[in-house]
Amino acid sequence: MTAASPIPAPGFRSVTDLDPAAIRAVIARAAELKAGRVTGPEARPLAGRSVVLLFEKPSLRTRISFEVGIHRLGGQAITLTGAEVGLGKREAAADVARVIERYADAIVARVFRHGLLDELAARVAIPVVNALSDTEHPCQALADLMVIGEHLGALPGRRLVYVGDGNNVAASLLLACASVGMHIRVVSPAGYAPDPAIVARARALAAQSGSEVEIETDPAGAARGADAVYTDAWASMGQEDEAEARRVIFAPYRVTEAMLATSPGALFLHCLPAHRGEEAEDAVLDGPRSVIFDQAEDRLWVQMALLERLIAGPRAG
Ligand code: CP
Ligand code: NVA
Repeated sequence: MTAASPIPAPGFRSVTDLDPAAIRAVIARAAELKAGRVTGPEARPLAGRSVVLLFEKPSLRTRISFEVGIHRLGGQAITLTGAEVGLGKREAAADVARVIERYADAIVARVFRHGLLDELAARVAIPVVNALSDTEHPCQALADLMVIGEHLGALPGRRLVYVGDGNNVAASLLLACASVGMHIRVVSPAGYAPDPAIVARARALAAQSGSEVEIETDPAGAARGADAVYTDAWASMGQEDEAEARRVIFAPYRVTEAMLATSPGALFLHCLPAHRGEEAEDAVLDGPRSVIFDQAEDRLWVQMALLERLIAGPRAG
């Protein structure tokens, strides 16, 4: 809580708000929390602190994992949804944030327009965390890296193939993989490729980390050489009107057992919610390579580590 608004706090609106070392540190801390190695007062860094969660869109995993995580860290979560939020409608986003700053220590927000996150952050010194925007889903990408590491060990040199819409989840995966030295291939129908600005940022990171970024459109052989194959909804929240048209356009991009035959041993990931019968066959979602519920669980641990870092400060060492 602060009464003034000096210097904007580091937030987490994009994956790249954490540098590669910080991404690794958050995932390592999340693993310590998950293993139960953090006990006593150290386990309650948010004691006496409050975090406000704002949701313009529905959520299962994000809301529950943040609320449970904040509780476990000793803090209090206050959640506002839908019309209650009224970001930029009932009240200017910057004013909403300046009010929250007088009561609470961080804002976690799920929004349609990514720019709203920047508007929330513009006039406050408390961190603003992206709980999914139309542009990125950075907390999801942190959890995904953690899961891949748990199953495959060291991340550098591994290859993730994302098949489907090149929007928010794909964007954060591009930035996250390129940050930590993982190769990434995004395979999307023409017209649904990732934003070129995100691809350029990912390529710049990949040049530093020694990884490759491939953007393709042909679903045939998409999964070749993959250590992990990832997909997401064909129509994201807010695109419900396009769902019917997208079902036709994206049908060749469904992740099937046949598609995965070119990458024996690869993990299968999906951020969920899954639209069964659409982006992935049930046999894949429920198959032996699927780690989709590990992804849901690791949202909890990475977000605890992230909030600890953003509110209580980075840990030494
Ligand atoms: N993956 C994810 O963010 O799920 P929710 O939309 O249920 O929060
Ligand atoms: N791309 C999806 C992700 C849901 C977690 C959406 O934006 O709806």
